[in-house]
Amino acid sequence: MATNKKDIEFYIDAIRSGADGFQLTEKQPLSYFIRTFGCQQNDNDSEIAAGLLEFIGLKAAPCIEDADIVIFNTCSVRENADRRFYGNLGNLKTWRSEEKHRRIGVMGCMPGLDTHNTMLKESFPFIDFLLNAGDMGNLPRALYESGSQKKHSIVDLTDQAKETGNPSLPVKRESKHRALISIMSGCNNFCSYCIVPYARGRETSRDPLLILAEARAAVDNGAKEIMLLGQNVNSYGNDKRRQGESDFPSFAWLMEEIAKFPDLSILRYMTSHPKDLSDELIEVIGKYETIESHVHLPLQSGSNRLLKQMNRRYTSEHYLELVDKLRSARPGISISTDIIVGFPGETEEDFEDTLRIMETVKFDRAFTFIYSPRSGTPAAGWEQSASDAEIQERFERLLDLQNKHSLESNERCVGENIYVLVSGLSKNDDKIFSGRSKDDRLVNFSLPDMTDSAGQDLTSRGEPLSSTISDGSEVFVRITKAKTHSLEGVFTGLA
Ligand code: SAH
Ligand code: SF4
Ligand code: F3S
Repeated sequence: MATNKKDIEFYIDAIRSGADGFQLTEKQPLSYFIRTFGCQQNDNDSEIAAGLLEFIGLKAAPCIEDADIVIFNTCSVRENADRRFYGNLGNLKTWRSEEKHRRIGVMGCMPGLDTHNTMLKESFPFIDFLLNAGDMGNLPRALYESGSQKKHSIVDLTDQAKETGNPSLPVKRESKHRALISIMSGCNNFCSYCIVPYARGRETSRDPLLILAEARAAVDNGAKEIMLLGQNVNSYGNDKRRQGESDFPSFAWLMEEIAKFPDLSILRYMTSHPKDLSDELIEVIGKYETIESHVHLPLQSGSNRLLKQMNRRYTSEHYLELVDKLRSARPGISISTDIIVGFPGETEEDFEDTLRIMETVKFDRAFTFIYSPRSGTPAAGWEQSASDAEIQERFERLLDLQNKHSLESNERCVGENIYVLVSGLSKNDDKIFSGRSKDDRLVNFSLPDMTDSAGQDLTSRGEPLSSTISDGSEVFVRITKAKTHSLEGVFTGLA
C-alpha cells in the first residue's frame, strides 16, 4: 500500500530527531539539490520532494557540489532522456565517496522499470535510494532508511505500489505565478510505443476535494495560474467510477469548479487524449474565460493504420471532428500537438497522411519526435520499414511544415494588444521580460522607451515600471514581431 499520512509523519519525526544519522541543526542545516528531467508531472513531483525536504528541515542548495542530498528525478520516454541522466549520475561517484553523510536518490520514471532498476543497482552501487515515479509519500522513508543502515546498500522502494493516489503533501513551487497540481497518476492507455504506463502504473484519480483545496490554497498564496496535470486528464475519475463510485466527478466538473475561482487568471490542463475528450468538457472550455484558450491534443500520426498500431483508439476523422468542435466552442483556440515520425512500419503514404492532417488543422505549435524504441513496450520488437536516413528526411519535412504553420499562426498576432502573464526576466537579456498569453504563446517583451529628456535610461536605473513587473505580473503587450516559437512586443499597460 501507499504510504499514508501517519507513516509519512513517523519518518519525518525520525529524521528530525537524528535517528538516521543526519545532523539537522539549525545552525548548519543540511541542503538538497534536485535535478529534474521529463514532463510537468516530474516537475510537480520535484516541487513536492522539495516541499517535503524543507518541511523536514533541509535547505535548497544552489548546485550539486554544495548539496548534502542530491536527487535525480528521471524520465525514460525516449532514449536521449536516459543517456543524459546516466552521464550526470556517473560524475557523482567521487562526490558521494568524499563525505559519509551525503546521499544520492533516484526517482521518477526510470527506477521502477526493470531494465533501468538493474542497471542502476549494478553500475551505480553508490546510489542511496530508489523511488517510484510520483511516490513522494515514500521520500521520508527512503531518506530515513538510507541513513539508518550500518553498511551501505541501496534502499529500493520501487516494490511499493505505483498507484499512490497521493495525499496532500507540502510543496515548494518553482514558479510564483503558476501552480502545478497533479489530479491523477499513471496511465491505462498502453499506446504501443510508450513506456509511461509501465513507469507510472495504473491510472489513479486523486480526491477531487483535495485537488480543489490545493488549488484554492495556491490561489490564496498568489498563484495566478493553475495547471492541472495527468497523462490523460480527460479520463479523470474513470478508475473510481469503475470501482463503483458512480458519482465520482468528471474532469469537466473539476475544470468548471476551478474555473469559477474569482481571483484565478488562467486555468491550464494537460494532457488531453483525443479518445476521451468529451462534449461536456468542450462545452466547459467554451464557457469560461479563465480556461486557457488552448488545448494540447496529441495526434501522434495522421494515418489510421498507424493510429491503430499505436493503440490510440481514434481515427484521423475523429480527431478532425474534435478540432472543429473545439474551434466552434472557443473561436481562436490554439491547438498544439505531439507527432511521432518513424513509428515501425511507417510508409511514405502513412507519413503523407500526417502531413495532410497537419495542412488541414494547421497546428499552432507541435512537439515532434523521432520514434525511439522503448524496451518492454509492444512496438519495441516491431520491424522498421524505413531507413534511418528516410526517417530523418521525413522528420525534417515535418518540421519545415510545422515551422511554417507555427510562424503563420504567430503572425496573426502582430499588431494585437494581448494579455500576458509574466514569468520573469528573459534568460538572455535583462531588459526583456517573458511570459505566456492565454492561448499559450511565449511572449518576450520590452518596456517602452523610457529615456528621459537628458538621455538617462530610466528602466536600467530600476525605476518603478521595471521593478513592478516580475513573476506573476499581468500585463498587456502590443505584438510587434512574430517568430516561429515566440512573439515579441512592447508593454502597453498593467492588466
Ligand atoms: N500522456 C501524453 C504524453 C506523454 S509522453 C499523451 O498521451 O499525449 C509525451 C509525448 O512523447 C507523446 O505524446 C509522444 O508523442 C512522445 N513519445 C512517447 N513515447 C515515445 C517514443 N517511444 N518515441 C518517440 N516519442 C514518444
Ligand atoms: Fe503514453 Fe499513451 Fe499513456 Fe500518453 S496516453 S502516457 S502516450 S501510453
Ligand atoms: Fe518522462 Fe515519465 Fe513524464 S517517462 S515524459 S517523466 S511521465
